[in-house]
Formats: sequence, structure tokens, C-alpha cells
Amino acid sequence: MKVASIVGARPNFIKLAPLSKELRKEFDEVIIHTGQHYSYEMNKMFFDELGIPKPNYHLGVGSGTHGYQTGEMIKRIEDVLLKERPDVVLVYGDTNTTLAGALAAVKLHIKVGHVEAGLRSYDRKMPEEINRVLTDHCSDYLFCPTEKAVENLRGEGITEGVYMVGDVMVDALRESIKVAEKKSKILDELDIKPKEYYLATIHRAENTDSFERMKSIVEAFCEIGNVVFPCHPRTEKMLKKFGLWDSLREIKVIKPVGYLDMLMLEKNAKLILTDSGGVQKEAYILRVPCITLRNNTEWVETVEEEWNVLVGTDKDKIVKTSMNFNPENPQSDIFGDGGASERIKEILKLI
Ligand code: UD1
Ligand code: UDP
Repeated sequence: MKVASIVGARPNFIKLAPLSKELRKEFDEVIIHTGQHYSYEMNKMFFDELGIPKPNYHLGVGSGTHGYQTGEMIKRIEDVLLKERPDVVLVYGDTNTTLAGALAAVKLHIKVGHVEAGLRSYDRKMPEEINRVLTDHCSDYLFCPTEKAVENLRGEGITEGVYMVGDVMVDALRESIKVAEKKSKILDELDIKPKEYYLATIHRAENTDSFERMKSIVEAFCEIGNVVFPCHPRTEKMLKKFGLWDSLREIKVIKPVGYLDMLMLEKNAKLILTDSGGVQKEAYILRVPCITLRNNTEWVETVEEEWNVLVGTDKDKIVKTSMNFNPENPQSDIFGDGGASERIKEILKLI
């Protein structure tokens, strides 16, 4: 059987890493890279570090408006799918690459599997929400990371082809954390000590594209003080455009880091401030308190279990919560046991 994995952005690569290893034990896997992310530290660094095979096709789409980017991806993916004719296409998460891959495949009557299906923030203004909903509604196999995701799909009338497999990001984290402990020197390089710093990531359009929100976030980070901030290129671009870049001199702004360094930064942080989906989840798994700079989240269980708080972008609220948030609740096994990739492979073997 031939499986085509379609990826293009940083979180897609991290989800692909453990699954690709499993798929290659049984199937012929073709990797199609749309080129949505292309800077070394958003792209190739992950292939090198995580041992993901070199993509068979690199479509070089790059950045652009949603219409341009998604449209170009569909056209170029279609050409490859017509040539390769895989038995199933796998798409990952909620990026424009995910939606483009699903649409190109379903229109060619190729079966689609969505890895990380069923997530909802119920905020249709987020491009990711549109990508998730549409991808789920045209998928044949919906690989859910949590029970909540299964329930969300049921609420939309999707009950066939739904599999609760656990989260492939747990597989990725479990495999890489041991390597990270041995190899990463990031704490020494940045001259920081475990549990003495805050870690921050920001890249969601709803935040980066608003001057008011970014100003408030920047002021909060400066007031908190010892913040390490691996800065997404989108965020860097907008901070410079808004004239806010120089005011970040008081904190440690660094280039985006590789996955191994990121895991070490997360694990040793006193607290994490983020608007990333993946980072909220990793904070929970690593038992690090998380403050989410959004008004909603698709990872609601982390909030229900009180390891994550939604604070939006009000400066005082960010600062006050960062200083006072010390969760101690016991955690449950929300995201599974690290065996999601193997389960997906076993399900695909039956088709
Ligand atoms: C995308 C995803 C988002 C995901 C994020 C992960 C969509 C709609 N959004 O957002 O869900 O959380 O990836 O990181 O798919 N840029 C570079 N180098 C790169 C990539 C981007 O400089 O390698 C800059 C460009 O200025 C570009 C901007 O970042 O215009 C935004 O990139 P884009 O891929 O459109 O969206 P992300 O914000 O990265
Ligand atoms: N990540 C990383 N380096 C960074 C920032 C994030 O390796 O500098 C990893 C992070 O550990 C997680 C994934 O990227 O596994 C999350 O991706 P991102 O925040 O870009 O997107 P989202 O999850 O919000 O879609």
C-alpha cells in the first residue's frame, strides 16, 4: 500500500516524525512538502534533528494570502497525486497545508486520513478552525487525539471512520525528550537556570496582526522580566512593522529553536506563556503551568484540569496571572500513552 503524507509547516513536521517511522515499517510512504514554511529554523532543522526522511516532492509554495497559498498548494499537490496515485493521503493538524492536501485528495477520490481530527475552538475567525472543520468533513479516517475530539465530531454528525488513537505529539515528545536531555545545551547557551525563567511563544494571526494586542503582550513580557522568547518569523516581522521590536531589549528574544532545545526550554521553565496549540499541550504533558494568550482554546481539557488559563492579551491580567499561577492538581492521561502512531498504522493496515 502507498501512503502519501502531506506536510508544510513546523507543527506538521513534528506530528509526521513519529508516524513516518511507523508507516515505513509496513507501507511505501511518499512525503509531499508544500513549502509553506521554508526558513531553516522553521523547516529543515526539524527534518535534520528528527530524522524525518527527505521529502519526495518539494512544491515550493511559500508565503502569501490564504487564497494564494491554499490555491497554489491544491494545484501543485494535485499534479503529484495524479502521478503517484497513493491509496491514502494523510494530512496533519490544522494548517493551510492540511486543508489543501485534504481537498486535492478528496476531489481525486483518494482516501483521506486526518491526523489530529476533531479539535474545535468554535472560533470561526481563526483560519485554523476553518481548516479543521473542512478537513474533518472531507476525511475518510479521522484519527482523534482525545475523547473530546470524538465527541466534537459526533456533535457534527461525523461518526464513521472515527478512531480515538491518542495524540501523536505524545509519541514525538516521549521519543525526543531523552535525546534532548543528553544533547541540548540551550540552558547553558542562554545562561539561564531551571525554573528561574518564563518561556514565551506568540504567532497566531489574531495576536500578531493587531498593534494593540502586540503592544500589550510586549509590555507584559517586559514587566515580567526574565522571559525567553523564541520568536516566530511572522511575529518578528509584525513587531518590526509596529515599531515594537526595540522595546523587547529587556528580555531574551531568540530565533525559533529546534524541537530538542524547545523541549528543554519548556520542561525547565517556571511557566509558559503562549498562543500556540502544540505548546499548550506540551506544557501540560511536561507539568509546566501554562498561560494562554487567547480567549479560547481547542485544548479545553488542559483548562478544565486547571493547568492552563486563558488570559487573552490584557497586560495586567497576563502579568498578574503569571506571578500567581501555581497549579498542583493531579493530571490525567488526556493525550494518551505515546502509542498513537502505531495505532494509526494498524488501522491503515486494515483498509
Ligand atoms: C502557520 C499556520 C498556523 C500554525 C503555524 C505554526 C496557517 C493558516 N497557519 O502560521 O496554524 O500554528 O503555521 O508555526 O496555516 N515566514 C517566514 N519563514 C517561514 C514561514 C513563514 O519568514 O519559514 C513568515 C512570512 O513572513 C509569512 C509569515 O511568516 O508571511 C506567516 O507564515 P504562514 O505560513 O502564512 O503562517 P504562520 O503564521 O506561520
Ligand atoms: N516549537 C519548536 N521551536 C520553537 C517553537 C515551537 O520546536 O521555537 C515546537 C513546539 O515544541 C511544538 C510545535 O513547535 O512541538 C508547535 O508548533 P507551533 O507553535 O509553530 O504551531 P501550533 O502548534 O500553534 O500550530
